[in-house]
Amino acid sequence: MQEIDALKRQAAEAAVAHIESGMVVGLGAGSTALKALECIAERLAVGTLTDIVGVPCSEQVAADARRLAIPLTTLDSHPEVNLTVDGADEVDPQLRVIKGGGGALLREKIVAQASEREIIIVDERKLSERLGMKWALPVEALSFGLRAHVKFIERLGATVQVRTRPDGSHFRTDSGNLILDCQFGPMEDPACIAGALERHAGVIEHGLFLDLVTDLIVASPSGTRHLTR
Ligand code: A5P
Repeated sequence: MQEIDALKRQAAEAAVAHIESGMVVGLGAGSTALKALECIAERLAVGTLTDIVGVPCSEQVAADARRLAIPLTTLDSHPEVNLTVDGADEVDPQLRVIKGGGGALLREKIVAQASEREIIIVDERKLSERLGMKWALPVEALSFGLRAHVKFIERLGATVQVRTRPDGSHFRTDSGNLILDCQFGPMEDPACIAGALERHAGVIEHGLFLDLVTDLIVASPSGTRHLTR
């Protein structure tokens, strides 16, 4: 666990080195992205970074950023983001990723789409030959029509689980929606699955980020690799 933590930190440091003073920075969600928040806070504290504002991808990230004294803004005030640092659940060789393990995929995708650069930071466990081999695809869905959404996604070939909290109640996203964890297995054509999901009313968003990642930073015990699209 400590080793994984060190790898997350390693990837985060490499990404945060690309942030320059004055930038609008997208702040991703999850345990790896939290390491990036900590690195940003450290650079702000010693003055090697000044005058940045962060756009948080979830309420939890906003709370973490406030705790770390990182100045925040919104997409309404700053609709163009220079650079976002975010984590991912699974990454394929074409820099396509599955996100949403923490349920923040909708805001993460909105911020990614507003970003000039989307830097994804992962440890090497997240690398995968094919998306879906290691992770179920999170889909944010409206609770109205839940059983119909589940049936629809099952017909696309997935086994679907409605995400729950430890007390058994439905997990709710920051926007009040549900998360369906959809086990597709190795995806031959992620774009086809993405398209089908996008055409279904009631699906708010899915965790396939197929053409949004500009940079991938992978940390492993032998060092850090930086891949670009
Ligand atoms: C949050 O919804 C996700 O997209 C995270 O970025 C993703 O789950 C990676 O999280 P970890 O860095 O905690 O593995």
